[in-house]
Amino acid sequence: MQGPDIKGRSLVNLKNWTPEEIDFLLRIAANEKKNSREGIIKRRFEGKTLAMIFEKRSTRTRCSFETAFGEEGGHPVFLSNADIQLGAKESLEDTARVLGRMFSAIEFRGFSQKMVEELAEKSGVPVYNGLTDDYHPTQALADIMTLSEEFGSPAGRKLCFVGDGRNNVVRSLIIICSKTGTNCTVVSPKALHPEPGLFEEIKPWLKASGAEITVTEDISAVKGADGLYTDVWVSMGEESKKDERVRLLSPYQVNDRLLEMTGNKNCIFMHCLPAVKGEEVTVSVFEGGGSRVWEQAENRKHTIKAIMLATLLNQDVY
Ligand code: CP
Ligand code: NVA
Repeated sequence: MQGPDIKGRSLVNLKNWTPEEIDFLLRIAANEKKNSREGIIKRRFEGKTLAMIFEKRSTRTRCSFETAFGEEGGHPVFLSNADIQLGAKESLEDTARVLGRMFSAIEFRGFSQKMVEELAEKSGVPVYNGLTDDYHPTQALADIMTLSEEFGSPAGRKLCFVGDGRNNVVRSLIIICSKTGTNCTVVSPKALHPEPGLFEEIKPWLKASGAEITVTEDISAVKGADGLYTDVWVSMGEESKKDERVRLLSPYQVNDRLLEMTGNKNCIFMHCLPAVKGEEVTVSVFEGGGSRVWEQAENRKHTIKAIMLATLLNQDVY
């Protein structure tokens, strides 16, 4: 497939990815999804290796990277922080330099955004952020792919994120929406609003794409939404904040009443998963006809395969 040259690039937070590069990844992902439906699997990662570092738990992200890479003949190696010297007996810089000598690429899921950025800087190979406390860029790509499948293009659509407005998923959504022209409204209690610094950073992208990003405490802002998106109230590593979050976020549950408040009977429901049903979303909405959570989950694999194809291989093989 023809597109901008992104071979050798890392994906740490999407900030340095242009709308054209994001669009290219989404085109590759759509093609890979079609191939997978038709049972077409090639051996494009043969002879390549992928280090998969996980400090936090994962189902979708781990399985997406591992199956997308392995089914194409690549050799993924899962490394939990109980297995490797990183952070215990060896500095991040030294681990990065060793992994860079042995692997074609590195995936990292953990706490610190600085760690994934340092891995990218010091390893000399493409590094993919599989979630940190700050960002979840591979999730955002699957989310935009899901919106594109639903609406043709996400541009000009209204996506409302309702819940914990300052977590990793929301930050990455704000970034990708501002680059793809998707209007994003974050509906969240004031104590959980995204940091003002992010709004300064996205200004040029908003200007270029025409997207509008708004933040409010007022749940009536869901009116006119094409999609309602939520995530857990307590992200990994924040378990001690559970009681406070339940108190703050109970009025922001995505339930049938909120869905009705959109005034749009075609409004879809999105969730990055895993979900805590009965907290951020009711079973009724989660299992309802507008739910697209399984498409989103599947699209994680196609978008992640697209990232690895585009950053590791020449364009003539995908
Ligand atoms: N959405 C997501 O990242 O899921 P996992 O935590 O299962 O990887
Ligand atoms: N915000 C959630 C996302 C999980 C995929 C967390 O960080 O736990």
